[in-house]
Amino acid sequence: MISISTILYSDLIKPLPDQVKADARKVQLGKKLFFDPILSKDGTISCASCHDLQKGGDDGMKFSRGIRGQIGNINAPTVYNAVFNFRQFWDGRAKDLKEQVFGPIENPVEMGHSMDLTVKVLKKNKAYIKAFNEIYADGITHKNVADVIAEFEKVLITPNSPFDRYLKGDKRAISEQEKEGYRLFQSKGCIICHHGVNIGGNFYNKFGIYKDANSSNLGRYNITKREEDKYVFKVPSLRNVALTSPYMHDGRFNTLQDAVEFMTEHQLGRYIEPREINAIVVFLKSLTGEIPEIVRIKQ
Ligand code: HEC
Ligand code: HEC
Repeated sequence: MISISTILYSDLIKPLPDQVKADARKVQLGKKLFFDPILSKDGTISCASCHDLQKGGDDGMKFSRGIRGQIGNINAPTVYNAVFNFRQFWDGRAKDLKEQVFGPIENPVEMGHSMDLTVKVLKKNKAYIKAFNEIYADGITHKNVADVIAEFEKVLITPNSPFDRYLKGDKRAISEQEKEGYRLFQSKGCIICHHGVNIGGNFYNKFGIYKDANSSNLGRYNITKREEDKYVFKVPSLRNVALTSPYMHDGRFNTLQDAVEFMTEHQLGRYIEPREINAIVVFLKSLTGEIPEIVRIKQ
């Protein structure tokens, strides 16, 4: 069993590409908007308020805080490598990054605006009028605002993690314990759900298969109203997971130890030794990649 799964699955995780193609002008404008609280109704919250690019691309909180201190009801995932997710949001309700942008802007407890108002406000800003006109014949529109932000997010990738260097052939890039963790990640069955270039993010699965996960959020059922979609969520990417505590869609765990133990019991119906948990956690830490250049340079 162990050797078969190792053979079958070992190719399933692919290293991140070093670069993705993106339009440099759109990326710069998207970056400006990503950091600009002008997108929120009261001018206090930017995308970066909940997606801190210096700290793993999320906000480190169980639930995010939006305008007027309002608290949401779901954990903010990282924006890093989100471009490689097959859908956006925990329940996959946005098909891509462009469609996703409308979500937080129009969410009353996040930015509390509407795309109409956002466009109106931006159209009063000389610098933005000029910047959009330089790129688009139709200037500032809903579509173009989403387009530049999504273009910026495309370059938010974190290549060169020790594990990716290992996958590319540098056998000394990770330690013996990390290798042991990777073997367990395969033999225990984690890789059945967490694989692909994002080590997750490429399909949906039920949260709580062998044991009820006691989730108060119905996941994809909220969108489809199909019984079989109850508690079904997008399998999250495990890239940079060491930086994005707390874990799960409801931020219920603060440590990777707890998350790994819960996964083994609830998703795989297995028992796991503390030593094995530690090895998997050490392996997960080797998935932390490099912050892209564009984020390191001040605006
Ligand atoms: C108030 C906090 C907050 C703000 C502001 C915010 N987000 Fe988010 N973001 C979240 C939360 C919470 C989720 C998860 C929501 C869900 O899945 O239902 C999320 C999800 C996402 C995702 C999906 C990632 C994935 O793996 O599914 C992307 C991409 C994203 N946000 C980008 C942005 C952009 C771009 C902006 C600015 C236009 C923004 N966010 C503003 C909290 C925030
Ligand atoms: C049957 C599919 C499946 C298997 C097997 C599985 N997972 Fe998961 N994993 C998920 C889903 C779905 C979630 C999201 C749960 C939720 O809704 O919060 C998740 C979440 C996680 C998280 C939290 C990520 C975050 O950003 O919040 C970690 C860490 C994790 N899994 C690690 C593992 C490890 C390690 C194993 C093996 C011991 C494993 N998983 C096995 C489907 C699976």
